[in-house]
Amino acid sequence: ELSPIDTAKFVAAKRAVEFVEDGMRVGLGTGSTAAWMVRCLGELVREAGLTVTGVPTSSRTADLARQQGIKVVSLDEAKWLDLTIDGTDEFDADLCLIKGGGGVHLLEKIVATASDRMVVIADPSKSVDQLGAFPLPIEVIPFGWQTSKSLVEELLTSMDVLGQTTTLRMNGDRPFISDEGNYIIDLHLKRIGDPRRLSMVLNQIPGVVENGLFIDICDVVVVGHGDGRVEVSD
Ligand code: A5P
Repeated sequence: ELSPIDTAKFVAAKRAVEFVEDGMRVGLGTGSTAAWMVRCLGELVREAGLTVTGVPTSSRTADLARQQGIKVVSLDEAKWLDLTIDGTDEFDADLCLIKGGGGVHLLEKIVATASDRMVVIADPSKSVDQLGAFPLPIEVIPFGWQTSKSLVEELLTSMDVLGQTTTLRMNGDRPFISDEGNYIIDLHLKRIGDPRRLSMVLNQIPGVVENGLFIDICDVVVVGHGDGRVEVSD
């Protein structure tokens, strides 16, 4: 028996794998919702004989996909993808997202951008009127990270984003290290007035590798509910 939240994630995942057609190259997202999708896809591969090639967005997802019997290749082997299915931390009415709660938004953004279509799966708690209540992650290279952090703070002040705090993501008493060997700085902003502009200017700071805003990348959001209902955005 699944809890309402797991039911919501599961039914969204189950609906989203209906977008997968035989022979497709599929980007596989990361997180607890995406894990349901990898299991659903594995079932289609094992039981319905669907042929898919998966490109995972993290080592965690790669392990799960292999365990599920899904063929896994690198993005460079696949070159381009038909579809990516991933979870999110927030989405708004324009289908803009904040991702990176799990610290893998860099690979997720590369994979989603290299896909004809991105389908996001979510439970209703991820839906927001305005992005920003969830801390916005930025991945920075460890060299000079404190300087990069100061530059980000100056930038936010110049954009009239006041009262913000920035924190280095930790793993116990050490900095959290991403799959690519970088640090994550979380920006606690509350509300992001202009996500498009913020995303662009953050990425202009040399030490910043990528931020967690996904603008004009997501095409469809599939929302699952605790009672088993599913809504698909058009
Ligand atoms: C990973 O960095 C994130 O972008 C995830 O997609 C996000 O945290 C969603 O995770 P859940 O499905 O566990 O909420």
